[in-house]
Amino acid sequence: MKKYIVIGNPIEHSLSPKLHNYWIKENNIDAVYDKKRIDHSELENIIFEVKEGKISGINVTVPFKKAAIPFLDELSNEANKTQSVNTIYLNNGKIIGHNTDVAGFELAIKYLKYNINNKRIFILGAGGVVPSIIFSLNKMQPSKIILSNRTRDKAENLKELFKNVEIINWGEMPDFDMIINATSLGLKKEDEIKLDISNVGNNKIFYDVIYNPIETNFLKKAKNLGHRVENGKMMFVYQAHQAFTLWHKVMPKIDSETIKLLDQ
Ligand code: ATR
Repeated sequence: MKKYIVIGNPIEHSLSPKLHNYWIKENNIDAVYDKKRIDHSELENIIFEVKEGKISGINVTVPFKKAAIPFLDELSNEANKTQSVNTIYLNNGKIIGHNTDVAGFELAIKYLKYNINNKRIFILGAGGVVPSIIFSLNKMQPSKIILSNRTRDKAENLKELFKNVEIINWGEMPDFDMIINATSLGLKKEDEIKLDISNVGNNKIFYDVIYNPIETNFLKKAKNLGHRVENGKMMFVYQAHQAFTLWHKVMPKIDSETIKLLDQ
């Protein structure tokens, strides 16, 4: 039986095992997908288990998406451009690091039928998933990407990878068409982002990368003001779909049943 695993810290909240094991069963694949909380010191050994054939694939989540890179033999273009890895596998004896968050975000935006072209996009946060979102957005040619993060230095660091991003101070509110919450604020039900959204105009899109809870306070407030709101569920489903297809060479189904699995 082949073994797959998602590693991170924390990891308890991860719904990846639920989704992957559902698809494994549906496609009669002889495999199992687990989750494991690890410390940084364990990262190298667990990645090496892919080379030894003990593990067939690893998903990597916060805070190891960048830290995994030194232990890989090769990076895909997406992983290299974002310096971020969420999917690991063995190919011709080499450990490959890939990033399916990029396609995950792009497919999630397509699913919304929203045209990013020439739009002003405002990103909140500079954590693990943000390079993937920016790389993905750039392919869709927005007119501007503006970013703000509580720790401004971390936002400035992103400019080394993406020179076109404009950084503003945390708390400032620029003109935008779409705002994306990519901070971890909202994971706890009571979390609030201290931003005044009462004067942002009409018909904006509020996107939250968080999908559990289903509706963060950020989305709730925006919805009450009449804006379109979307959570990160489809991005999560599509990044998993890409990893599954890569590992098992089988394209699993995404239907209402699959999507319902993640409502909790
Ligand atoms: P990491 O920073 O380890 O990559 P992450 O969950 O991917 O972890 O990112 C957390 C994001 O949420 C960061 O942008 C973080 O801002 P800082 O860089 O200033 O830490 C943001 N964040 C977390 N708690 C926050 C808070 N209370 N207020 C504002 N931003 C917060």
